[in-house]
Amino acid sequence: MTRGLYIALEGVEGVGKSTVAAALQDLIEEAGHDVLIVREPGGTPSGERIRHVLLDTDDEVAPWTEALLFSAARAQLARDVVEPALEAGTWVVSDRSVYSSLAYQGGGRRLGVAEVRAVNEPGLGKTWPDLVALLRLDVGEGLARQEDPDRIGAAGREFLDLVAATFEGLAAADPERVVVIDAAMPVADVAAAIWKIAADRHG
Ligand code: TYD
Repeated sequence: MTRGLYIALEGVEGVGKSTVAAALQDLIEEAGHDVLIVREPGGTPSGERIRHVLLDTDDEVAPWTEALLFSAARAQLARDVVEPALEAGTWVVSDRSVYSSLAYQGGGRRLGVAEVRAVNEPGLGKTWPDLVALLRLDVGEGLARQEDPDRIGAAGREFLDLVAATFEGLAAADPERVVVIDAAMPVADVAAAIWKIAADRHG
C-alpha cells in the first residue's frame, strides 16, 4: 500500500483555506485517491476541547501555554487520525498544521521557530506534512475578508505581519516542501495549482 500524501494548507487569517480544502478534495478524489480533510486545532474529542480552551476565551493565555496546547492537540490528531489514514493510503488535506505553530507561536509570539519545532516533533514523529501550500494574500485583505476573528486572529496587525513574514521565511528555507500559492486567484485556480504540484510528486 502506497502511503497517502499529507498536504497542509497554511496562511494568515482570511486566505480561504477551508474553501480551498473542499475544492482540492474534489480534484484528489477525481484522480482516484481517498482523501480526508482535517482541521487544526481539533479533529479529535480532546483536540476539540483544546481548541475551545485556546480560541473561545478572553483570558490571557501565556505564549508557551498556547504553543504547548496546540502541540498537544496536534499529537493526538497525528496518532489517532492522520497517521492511520496515511498508512491506509488515504491522502490527508489539513486546514493548518505544525507550520501554523511555527509561524504564529514561533514567529508571531516570538518563541522562536526552532524552539516551537522542538516541542512539536516528539508528538508527531514521521507524521509531518509532505507538502505545505502557503496561501499568500496581503494581510490587510485577509483581515477584511474575515467575518468573525477568533482570539488569535484578533491579536493585531503587527502580530499578523510577523506571522506572515515567518511563513515567508519557512517557504524560503524549505522551498521543496513549502510552496507559495497566490491566494488572490479564484478558489478553483488555487486548488488546481496545489493539485498540480501534488500530482507531479505523487499522482
Ligand atoms: P483557524 O480555525 O484555521 O482560523 P482561520 O480559518 O480563521 O484562520 O485557526 C484558528 C486560529 O488559531 C488562527 O488564528 C490561527 C491560530 N493557530 C495558531 O496560532 N497556532 C497553531 O498551531 C494553529 C493550528 C492555529
